[in-house]
Amino acid sequence: MNTLQAPVIISTLDEARLPPYKSLRLRALKDHPDAFLETPESFAARSVESINERMRESQARGGFTLVAEVSGRGLVGTASLAVGSTPKDSHRGLVWGVYVAPEARGLGIGQLLLRELIDRSAHNSTLRNLHLAVVQSNDRARRLYTSLGFREYGLDLDALYVNGEFLSEVLMARNLRSTEV
Ligand SMILES: CC(C)(COP(=O)(O)OP(=O)(O)OC[C@H]1O[C@@H](n2cnc3c(N)ncnc32)[C@H](O)[C@@H]1OP(=O)(O)O)[C@@H](O)C(=O)NCCC(=O)NCCS
Repeated sequence: MNTLQAPVIISTLDEARLPPYKSLRLRALKDHPDAFLETPESFAARSVESINERMRESQARGGFTLVAEVSGRGLVGTASLAVGSTPKDSHRGLVWGVYVAPEARGLGIGQLLLRELIDRSAHNSTLRNLHLAVVQSNDRARRLYTSLGFREYGLDLDALYVNGEFLSEVLMARNLRSTEV
């Protein structure tokens, strides 16, 4: 069973922590090819400068990346929000990159990251709802999202092709303006 000796701190990713963030995300992409669209090869090839540039572009639209940090263990989790880039979809937030390292799972860190993401999104008056896609077989992540008020509204058939297999994704959304959950 996982345990943590130190408190978990959730904060927004800054430039100084991009190198450990890159390592953690690379680990996520390698270990869970079915949970993320980006391939480890393409992400590994990106420089810290280019990751920084994309982070700034996303921030300019209201997006952000949250990291969970444990003293003495460094970064153990991530969750990001991207915001629509045109006047017609800037009310939509896309949740991506949700990951907690195996040694820190089952301790509520995924929940902490998402609660903070929802809270920050709700304070952005332009945003109306959050969307995400999760592979159908990922029961743990689906339970986590459901417990935080996300509702399933569709199925993206054969959304991903991973290791010779087509995988469908469940589409989920959460209204930020309702008082539910
Ligand atoms: C999905 C994922 C992010 C969940 O992260 P996590 O930190 O383990 O999530 P939580 O700890 O908040 O919740 C997970 C479980 O632990 C339980 N839990 C939370 N806090 C707990 C605590 N203090 N003690 C015991 N159990 C606890 C939760 O009830 C939940 O139980 P359930 O799975 O039976 O519903 C993580 O498993 C992961 O990174 N998976 C691989 C990547 C992935 O699938 N990402 C999602 C892509 S859409």
